[in-house]
Amino acid sequence: MRPVEIKKDIYWVGALDWNVRDFHGYSTPKGTTYNAFLVVDEKVTLFDTVKKPFKNDLVHNIKKIIDPQKIDYLVVNHVEMDHSGCVPEMIDLIKPEKVICSAMGKNALLEHYHRPDWPYEIADPGQTVNLGKRNVSFLETRMLHWPDSMMSYIPEERLLISSDAFGQHWATSERFDDEVDLDELLRHGAKYYANILMLYSGLVQKVLGAVEKMGIQIDMIAPDHGLIWRTHPQKILAAYNHWSHQKTKEKALIIYDTMWQSTESMAFAIADGLIQEGVDFKLLNLKHNHRSDVMTEVLDARALIIGSSTLNNGMLPAMADMLCYMKGLRPSNKVGAAFGSFGWSGEAVKQITEILEEMKVKVPEPGIRVKYAPSPDDLTKCAELGRKMALAIKDHCE
Ligand code: FEO
Repeated sequence: MRPVEIKKDIYWVGALDWNVRDFHGYSTPKGTTYNAFLVVDEKVTLFDTVKKPFKNDLVHNIKKIIDPQKIDYLVVNHVEMDHSGCVPEMIDLIKPEKVICSAMGKNALLEHYHRPDWPYEIADPGQTVNLGKRNVSFLETRMLHWPDSMMSYIPEERLLISSDAFGQHWATSERFDDEVDLDELLRHGAKYYANILMLYSGLVQKVLGAVEKMGIQIDMIAPDHGLIWRTHPQKILAAYNHWSHQKTKEKALIIYDTMWQSTESMAFAIADGLIQEGVDFKLLNLKHNHRSDVMTEVLDARALIIGSSTLNNGMLPAMADMLCYMKGLRPSNKVGAAFGSFGWSGEAVKQITEILEEMKVKVPEPGIRVKYAPSPDDLTKCAELGRKMALAIKDHCE
């Protein structure tokens, strides 16, 4: 790639990672980007860096614009290593006058790289740093999604450099939202929200509220992953407002794993009950659906109907993985139910129910357990569970 001018004298200088397929548990079938931005002003400023193996791409892009040693300030909006992995090498190269970060960012940089000698400057929330023709102010966005996270805002350009927020894991040769299919872009944005930010939804609302209260004008949002929002920034802001309220629709997910298709037969019968009541649903067999794609569906689903056979006195491993991941992301406003087959002990349904309740999912109906293979009567009971869950979905108040 080459650098891309995103505003006059402001450049994307990041890197594309076409091949990454797993991002700490999140599937990235279309890769990702590590975005960094260079502002050429009286004080030349680099906002963020890239993952360590991509340092040469960053340096190559910067050199197309300016000698890296002319960079005065390095802003570290977020210390997670996909953005800071090459910070030590970049500081050795550019020898910046200032390394600007949040107070928590300084601690995190010290704890990652053990370099007390770097020229740290703490950016207090609301503080402004003059770059020459432009100023940059800093928004504290602690726990969105790390304690150190902050955003940088350049009012003269109405440009928000938003760190991870509003990003997407999607490697493309295009750099802007209006160069790709908007629906696909928003789907990538939704997956990113569901898998990275869902558990911080309350904080997302606070940040959106603060931005509105401060009257910050935004023409462009430049996140650290994926496409830059230059034509549709309001669409992703509205989507974050919607997602952070965890609003659901009349949609059920039947998420299951199965040993010998008994639990799967139960899942199909439950689906039949949902069909009878006219509720939309998705059947998600964990052998064929990645946990992070399931979480994207969880974002707007109202019901989580979870099934697993019992194996070795517990649920199947893929379901344990799924529920551990889901619980960490704290979905809210859901109703749920459990089901599954067993041979002799049959603990899985009880364990699933307990986890649903720990997640504060309302469980209006007792789970259904079936020994070995479901009989016609068992399948009738499963369909009845589907009908009852459909009614619970319709009655559920958020
Ligand atoms: Fe893209 Fe939290 O790092």
